[in-house]
Amino acid sequence: EFKLGLIGYPVQHSLSPFIHQKFMENTSIQGSYQLFETEPHQLEKRLEELKRADISGFNVTVPHKQAIMSYLDEVDSDAYRIGAVNTVVNDKGRLKGYNTDGIGYVRSLAEAYPNVFQQEKKALILGAGGAARGIYRALVKQGIQGISIANRTKSKAEGLLDLQDLHTETEILSFSEAEAALDNFDLIVQTTSVGMSPNHDEQVISLNKVKPHTVVSDIVYKPLNTKLLREAANLGAKTHHGHTMLLYQAQYAFEIWTGAHPQMESLVEQLEQRLR
Ligand code: ATR
Repeated sequence: EFKLGLIGYPVQHSLSPFIHQKFMENTSIQGSYQLFETEPHQLEKRLEELKRADISGFNVTVPHKQAIMSYLDEVDSDAYRIGAVNTVVNDKGRLKGYNTDGIGYVRSLAEAYPNVFQQEKKALILGAGGAARGIYRALVKQGIQGISIANRTKSKAEGLLDLQDLHTETEILSFSEAEAALDNFDLIVQTTSVGMSPNHDEQVISLNKVKPHTVVSDIVYKPLNTKLLREAANLGAKTHHGHTMLLYQAQYAFEIWTGAHPQMESLVEQLEQRLR
């Protein structure tokens, strides 16, 4: 019996209970996935409670992804470098943290567009927050050769360069430089909160110069079809949607906790229905 859950604030609208319930049905694993609404000042006490309640593992969301690291007994080396934890395993009171956001993103992209990771591909990451750090790290590990990062605050983009212990060329651009050079990229990943409802009529850059074979990816999934993805589709580019990253980061977490590998086919559609 796996006792799982999520700590964050707020958590009541989380899709994770739905997703992990489906994973349990799909793998015939017995368990539960509970929401533990936790304000910042309650974090330490909550972790003690979860250990005592013999919870097998839990997810971590806003605003605890960074703060939790100092309370864990061990942090996986990639999560440590990314600087954020979204998945914790409780091994008899010993807590170990992982980050499955970036690797989940890459897995969801590889499922949809395996060619993105063949030959010499160039990627543009828009944004430089926690999500961008995880995705950058995962793209570097996947062997993407050239990566450009564009962010409103340039110094924050430069902060991603300390993740670059593997051989990847990385350049930092402004949004207008990225727009002007858009036809260089085979993959564009939008990681900022721009375009998220209620600001659904915003997009971080214009895609005018995008090439038709380019994959445009947006990690925002509310709305399902962001303004950026609608423009990408209109211009003949390929699109990749944020809810698939949500599903695959959850799949990695579930695998870490239970060792079981849930099937995804029907779930993508079921989640789309919930988000419509
Ligand atoms: P997350 O963990 O979801 O990535 P975050 O760490 O708060 O969240 O990062 C938010 C990202 O969205 C940042 O890249 C931020 O840009 P800045 O570094 O310049 O703050 C970006 N962002 C948020 N609102 C934005 C806006 N209105 N225009 C452009 N970028 C924005």
